[in-house]
Amino acid sequence: MTEHTPSDELSADDHLGGGRAPQPDDGRTPRADWNPRGPRVRRDPLAAYDALRTHCPVARGPDGAWTVFSHADVMATVLDHTTFSNAVSRHLQVPNGMDGAEHSAFRAVVDRYFTPERMRDLEPVVRDVATELVATIDVPGPVDAVALGARFAVRAQSAWLGWPGELEEELLGWVEENRLATRSRDRGRTAAVAQHFTTIITTLTAARRGEDAPPDVTTELVRDRVDGRPLTDDEIVSILRNWTGGDLGSMALCAGVVLTYLADHPDLQARLRAGVPDRELDHVLDEILRLDDPFVSNRRIATQPVTIAGRSVAAGDQVLVNWTGANRDPRVFGPADAFDPEAHAPYNLVWGIGKHVCPGRPLATLELRALTRAVLAATSAVHPDPDRPRERERPPAGGWASAPLALL
Ligand code: HEM
Repeated sequence: MTEHTPSDELSADDHLGGGRAPQPDDGRTPRADWNPRGPRVRRDPLAAYDALRTHCPVARGPDGAWTVFSHADVMATVLDHTTFSNAVSRHLQVPNGMDGAEHSAFRAVVDRYFTPERMRDLEPVVRDVATELVATIDVPGPVDAVALGARFAVRAQSAWLGWPGELEEELLGWVEENRLATRSRDRGRTAAVAQHFTTIITTLTAARRGEDAPPDVTTELVRDRVDGRPLTDDEIVSILRNWTGGDLGSMALCAGVVLTYLADHPDLQARLRAGVPDRELDHVLDEILRLDDPFVSNRRIATQPVTIAGRSVAAGDQVLVNWTGANRDPRVFGPADAFDPEAHAPYNLVWGIGKHVCPGRPLATLELRALTRAVLAATSAVHPDPDRPRERERPPAGGWASAPLALL
């Protein structure tokens, strides 16, 4: 998955929203409008992003990076591929850190792995993974939806990529360490986590170079070509990193948001239990994720001076699009609790939009659908756990860090 956290260090006080007007640009010292990791965001991220979108829709952080919160401004930013570049990192990021023709060439490679035919073949495999995992949970009993989602994501992705079951605990440990490293903002720790992942991946790819390589998706990628030439080792590692590195964590957060919402909305849960076709369920899942989008933001870099909602952004400035805030914009979606899966689907930005729109969406949707159906099939009711409070995930991620539920 595309890396979705700003790597910059943030240090200023919490200056969030609260009706405070944006600071005028004096052309000298950038003043921070908010702190993306401050206490107010940590306490109630949705309320914080809602307040910013209303009172300071393009906000400068303490590191000088801008964050864009309204639906219209987020759309304008990500659809203007000339003014806003994806080349935000000094590391190779295939395809998310690329622009123009280079991005198109690599994106064509990536897209071949998520065709409807491939997803149709994979569906029964992912369904079995979900059913078998949920069968190991005691019903009635407690479950943490995020922990369940993490284990499911690792198993489903391993089944898809042909990775051995023995890697499960190491990958789960890695997901947790990656989460803690991201929160810590310690570059040394982040680099160590990245290196650990490279080691896991290169062991898997090395085993697929010979004649006796297993016939799986990882082998196919190792032998794949871009623009008529073989992919380099670094490109293969980067692609696999983007497919698994961030997404295992994102899938876990998505599972936490979806199952928690169903626990809080028994009427919707009853409707799904009565049986709905896949397409309707997919829209419901997207709408739940829209209301509490755990995949909070992505970065761009301005290639030229540009004005966004009256704020002057200089060439070279970092610009973050806040999907979570844009997805709750009342000018597009109405009141904050409005739940209308069909009507909101065309404007939903959970999977992004434009050239960098999520190529893994069909797989992620398939996985979330399978897990949701398996949990509903194995239970007669899912409630919030009355004995254990849920805990918000810390920025820069969203959703829940822990989502305790009671299965009946
Ligand atoms: C789990 C839920 C997921 C969410 C909410 C999500 C969301 C997104 C979003 C919003 C973007 C756009 C980023 C941007 O514009 O900068 C994106 C891009 C991307 N996603 Fe996902 N994604 C998910 C799962 C996956 C999965 C399962 C995969 C692959 C196995 C994947 C692979 C990618 C890649 C490679 C990109 C970069 C595409 C490009 O730059 O052309 N994602 N994702």
